[in-house]
Amino acid sequence: MTQRISLTRYLVEQQRVDGHIPSQLRLLLEVVARACKSISQAVNKGDLGGVLGAASTENVQGEMQKKLDIIANEVLIEANEWGGHLAAMASEEMDSIYVVPNRYPQGEYLLLFDPLDGSSNIDVNVSIGTIFSVLKKPEGSAGVSEHDFLQAGSHQVAAGYCVYGPQTTLVLTVGDGVAMFTLDREQGSFVLTQEHVQIPADTKEFAINMSNMRHWDAPVKRYVDECLAGKEGERGKDFNMRWIASMVADVHRILTRGGIFMYPWDKREPNKPGKLRLMYEANPMSWLVEQAGGAATNGHQRILDIQPGKLHERVSVILGSKNEVERVTSYHQKT
Ligand code: AHG
Ligand code: MN
Ligand code: MN
Repeated sequence: MTQRISLTRYLVEQQRVDGHIPSQLRLLLEVVARACKSISQAVNKGDLGGVLGAASTENVQGEMQKKLDIIANEVLIEANEWGGHLAAMASEEMDSIYVVPNRYPQGEYLLLFDPLDGSSNIDVNVSIGTIFSVLKKPEGSAGVSEHDFLQAGSHQVAAGYCVYGPQTTLVLTVGDGVAMFTLDREQGSFVLTQEHVQIPADTKEFAINMSNMRHWDAPVKRYVDECLAGKEGERGKDFNMRWIASMVADVHRILTRGGIFMYPWDKREPNKPGKLRLMYEANPMSWLVEQAGGAATNGHQRILDIQPGKLHERVSVILGSKNEVERVTSYHQKT
């Protein structure tokens, strides 16, 4: 029988053998995984656990919150605040940062998360997830402030997501490639099921919300038009389309079999750079994709190079198979 490698063992080996992660970061990732397990339980119970439906509150971005958005946020905070590994947390669902209370020791890491991604899919039993990103508090800064979080994605020290689908799968990078862990519910532990994940450079599958087509900018429209033209068109091949409306699930498919995902700027809200959030969604997903050999840009620059100006900043996102992302990006450069 091949030996099963648990997330715990994987992290211990990353720490001990490869020297990739300090012990505090290992602890942090274990705690995030434990929180994801508990969110997975809640998701699994669905109506039986009374977790479906709206919460009748709005978040800082003016979006209606679902009960599970709030539950997942609380689970992540409660799991992470007391371990001594964190200085503060920031979440898509909280207006401002959450500083670790004085009664607990303060660590040197900053944790950012989208506690529940794909909220519109919760009540219809379609895959949703949790996305997280870890930064180090800048050295020499006394206390902790929002400003400490405003670091480009290239400074992340760990990033990942957990997708709650037919299986619960945790996907992680600490800068040494991408590894996937499947939750074994009987054992209660995440088991390594794929290492050195690689996204093929070419693809015949694209993901975008087509209902926004009339609002797109010319480069995105050109790219999608060429995909739709299929064999007879410029690209000389037929394309397939998928749109799950959970970024975690769309990115998981791309890490598994390739593809391109786009949520571009559009004319509905011209003053916003995009819909997705740079710090909670785009940065962690972009690093995972790059670590798997793919690419991620906002049409003009590498997402991981963007210097955030504010915590809840939004961004246009094009990520996935390298050659396709480079093609869409080059269309932007030509206009
Ligand atoms: P969230 O549920 O965290 O607000 O994120 C939803 C995001 C992303 O997961 C998905 O790709 C996109 O919004 C779907 O947007 P549309 O409903 O506009 O297609
Ligand atoms: Mn989201
Ligand atoms: Mn969310």
